[in-house]
Amino acid sequence: MSWGWELGLVNLINAGTDATTTEETLDPQDWEAVRRLGHRMIDDLVEQLSSVRERPVWQRVPDPVRAALREPLPVTGQPLEHIYEEFKSRVRPYPTGNIHPRFWGWVMGTGTITGAFADLLAAGMNSSVAIFDDAPSLVEEQVIRWLVEAMGFPETGSGLLVSGGSMANLIGLAVARNARAGYDLRQHGVGGAPFTLYASRETHNSVAKAVELLGLGREHLRLLPVDANFRLDTGALAMAVEADRAAGRRPLAVIANAGTVNTGALDPLHEVADLCARERLWLHVDGAFGAMAALSPELRPRVAGLERADSVAFDLHKWGYVPLEVGCVLVRRGDEHRAAFAAAADYLAAARGGLVARQQKFSDQGVQLSRNFRSLKVWMMLKEHGFAKLGRLIAQNVAQARYLAELVDAQPALERLAPVPLNIVCFRYRGGVTDPATLDALNRELVVRLHESGVAVPSGTLVRGSYAVRAAITNHRSRREDFRILVDACLKIGRQLEAETGRAS
Ligand SMILES: Cc1ncc(COP(=O)(O)O)c(C=O)c1O
Repeated sequence: MSWGWELGLVNLINAGTDATTTEETLDPQDWEAVRRLGHRMIDDLVEQLSSVRERPVWQRVPDPVRAALREPLPVTGQPLEHIYEEFKSRVRPYPTGNIHPRFWGWVMGTGTITGAFADLLAAGMNSSVAIFDDAPSLVEEQVIRWLVEAMGFPETGSGLLVSGGSMANLIGLAVARNARAGYDLRQHGVGGAPFTLYASRETHNSVAKAVELLGLGREHLRLLPVDANFRLDTGALAMAVEADRAAGRRPLAVIANAGTVNTGALDPLHEVADLCARERLWLHVDGAFGAMAALSPELRPRVAGLERADSVAFDLHKWGYVPLEVGCVLVRRGDEHRAAFAAAADYLAAARGGLVARQQKFSDQGVQLSRNFRSLKVWMMLKEHGFAKLGRLIAQNVAQARYLAELVDAQPALERLAPVPLNIVCFRYRGGVTDPATLDALNRELVVRLHESGVAVPSGTLVRGSYAVRAAITNHRSRREDFRILVDACLKIGRQLEAETGRAS
């Protein structure tokens, strides 16, 4: 390969530099010093992650640190070394905690060192994965092809990496709305008889937000009853669709859950898909974490029917263990996906060659134009570990959830509040307390004290109106001993609280 002419061109440009001007840049003046600092940052990061188990899961940011983090606008700069020292003393010691083996709050993934390196490398390239003919676009395309295959979607399926499950739900439902409206909704807006949507009442609130944002109206989202296992009642679904049709409304879509946020319940996807086929309704599956069960041959039957969805939303930053943020939406028919978002503009037109030779634009599949290179961390992690290992880790978390449920069931002072179909365990301390309001208050306080102890971080929710301690296990660092530590801590704090409650009454 000859670089001769390019170097000649560079020399020509450099020769034109005016030595008398004082132009600035944000590049360091001393690249060697920044290299040394960068090496230190990497060393510190490796140290921090490899020793994470030895630290508290979470600790409150102390008041002096909070105060120090409120500063006047920095008009002039300071050396990067000083800022890094400040980061080390005031920021890094107080993380959310989801890098720790005993973090099981909400549904948050653990992240990996490879993911962290990949984010650094991606930021270094600073590509916008939008409309360009460049390698980052090919990497995202590749990641989407792998995910299409892993979820059992047809090759004609399309997809997009997005910020998370909420955005993936919004995009899936936007495609549903536009594809099934029966007229050019993008041009004319939402009009006529209301479109109605159906989901179980256990559905995540991002679905309601999406319905609101799409102008469909929250009152037209039917939140339907569930069975004893928190699964969508398909009889109620059929009746609701029939009633809406009879009333002249326009049934549009069903949102089925592959893993509800509260208990991990799996809606009967085949049954729902059959009904959608009969009623010509769009089937969107919110599989924010549960869809990832499809990666485990052992768990795949639990999400059978997922592959029949018209669109599916899931997160890599939850049960894919990839660092935040990265979610994914897949749409069964790529033409419908693009029809919902494609937008021509003179300044974005494709060309015969050069940087905009790309015909299929990522910006035609979602809301964003400028997009970061979030696919790099997914690509690197999938290549490093392989889908098979990811599937094994997901199955390991499900086995750990079963183990935790057994530990809870073996303790007379604890009470499990929901079945464990996947990776979420809901329970509470009961001891000798019988009054429902006292039980709720005691368990709310138990979660706070657990967090403040730094021992473990579950979160809380309501299960059939009762407050539950909720452990959602999407953590590749957890070991069985961690669940024994959680149960012991719940018993200890629960007994203390019960004694305090007794003294107070
Ligand atoms: C079932 C379900 N759907 C959607 C979401 C929203 O995902 P995100 O937080 O990535 O926006 C969550 C988050 O926990 C979830 O559990």
